[in-house]
Amino acid sequence: MGILVNDIERQLFSAAKAVRLNSFSPYSGFRVGAALLSAKSGKIFTGTNVENSSFGGTICAERSAVVKAISEEGKIEIASLIVVSNANPPAPPCAICLQVLSQFCKSDTPIMLSDLEGNVERYTFGDLLPHPFIL
Ligand code: THU
Repeated sequence: MGILVNDIERQLFSAAKAVRLNSFSPYSGFRVGAALLSAKSGKIFTGTNVENSSFGGTICAERSAVVKAISEEGKIEIASLIVVSNANPPAPPCAICLQVLSQFCKSDTPIMLSDLEGNVERYTFGDLLPHPFIL
């Protein structure tokens, strides 16, 4: 486990930790916050998980952040992304989110997985999804 090393990382962490509190997760009780840095604008976009009584309708925190970013900026490039939860070890993006993220990440894009204290595990996108589906 590592620590947050610069202002951008601390901002991403704080934003994801804060938005996590808005999680709508009455079924799992598992709250997740995500924050991505747009390479295009330098802006941070956040997302949280939104569950549905038809469970397959659930939207994860990571996809929420992607949808918000693209709604504001059009096609983005993700410079880095953090996922914050209370899981130990910290939760990675699910496979559906990884496939969605693959449109906007490069293989070397940094992905941080964090607990609520900012203890982070560091990966590249390619570590987590080495073989995305590309049409
Ligand atoms: N979830 C996320 O939002 N992101 C992840 O990285 C893993 C899982 C959500 C989906 C669901 O609301 C809850 O966590 C339990 O699976």
